[in-house]
Amino acid sequence: MEGNAAVLCGLGAWVPPRVVSNKELTTALDTSDEWIRSRTGIEQRYLVDKGMATSDLAVEAGKRAIESAGSPPIGAVVLATTSPDRLCPGTAPEVATRLGLVDVPAFDIAAACGGFMYGLTVASSLVSTGLSGHILLIGAEAFSTMVNPQDRSTAVLFGDGAGAVVLRGGEPGEPGEIGPFDLGSDGGKADLLAVPAGGSRQRFVAATGQGLADARPPEYFLHMDGPEIFRNAVKRMTSSSRKVLDQIGWTPDEVDALAAHQANLRIVSAVGERLGIPQEQWLTNADRVGNTLTASIPILLAASAAKDLLRPSDRVVLTAFGAGLTWGSAAMTWPQITPRIDVIP
Ligand code: COA
Repeated sequence: MEGNAAVLCGLGAWVPPRVVSNKELTTALDTSDEWIRSRTGIEQRYLVDKGMATSDLAVEAGKRAIESAGSPPIGAVVLATTSPDRLCPGTAPEVATRLGLVDVPAFDIAAACGGFMYGLTVASSLVSTGLSGHILLIGAEAFSTMVNPQDRSTAVLFGDGAGAVVLRGGEPGEPGEIGPFDLGSDGGKADLLAVPAGGSRQRFVAATGQGLADARPPEYFLHMDGPEIFRNAVKRMTSSSRKVLDQIGWTPDEVDALAAHQANLRIVSAVGERLGIPQEQWLTNADRVGNTLTASIPILLAASAAKDLLRPSDRVVLTAFGAGLTWGSAAMTWPQITPRIDVIP
């Protein structure tokens, strides 16, 4: 009989086939491989080609997570994304249908790079209250479509991809249990990282050309105050992780793995150092994928488990931060699980 804990039982990830190196970016942008590596740690990213949308990535990752879980009946689909296929309707219902999940509840969560942690909290609540037997949570992004290809301060940072988990109800204390959680937001700093136009505030106006690749004016692309975002990311992921460590009663040296949102390897280092978690325990793959927003943590978990860097009963801290501002963290013990992932970034 199922208890009231939420337990991780399936894990999958998928990245689009096109790999773009730093060097390739230098052909169109005034930047260098050296600058990108030294400021961010990123060496390459995977990007969607024209015609490939977030739902396409989400379906691939979702399919793999369900297989990894042993193909149980799925009772609900939650999709965390910052780059939905369209403004309306949400993307999750289409993803559910394409996965053959008929009539199940399916909805999107919009909390930018914090979105996977928000989704994990909501999905865990749904299974631990018994509302859904097994629930599929996907983080998927084709965010390169929202970044100005001519803006070197943002175009080098982001990558596309998707990761997914399946959660089930379980017994408190069993390996794979997720929690406690911490979530937070600060809307007063929304302008630090935003796509200003295209919603109900700054409405759509006819494109004017301006030499952009797809003739969108700059306000329809991401704007970012990099150094302020850096400072807030370090501060919020550190304090949020501390809260879950305090709640669960683990000391930093008892943590086997820190799975922090992979925006920038310097941010991961700063968070790990402030928390006092030894460097050997920091999981990283921003060098291979860049910042994949809501997909960052599930891709990192799937890749790390596939490399045997996550083992059953490991004590894991998950933490993320993003536009909004939003942030969130959770503790979990690692289950016996075989991720499904074709390319391991
Ligand atoms: N190539 C070469 N030079 C670049 C560049 C690029 N791709 N992007 C910016 N620069 C230049 C800037 O124009 C600036 O030049 P200036 O000193 O002549 O004005 C210089 O590099 C330094 O810029 P700065 O923004 O101070 O660098 P930084 O050390 O803060 O690093 C980021 C920039 C973006 C890497 C860093 O601020 C960061 O990672 N911020 C967080 C971003 C993030 O994680 N966003 C998502 C959050 S979920």
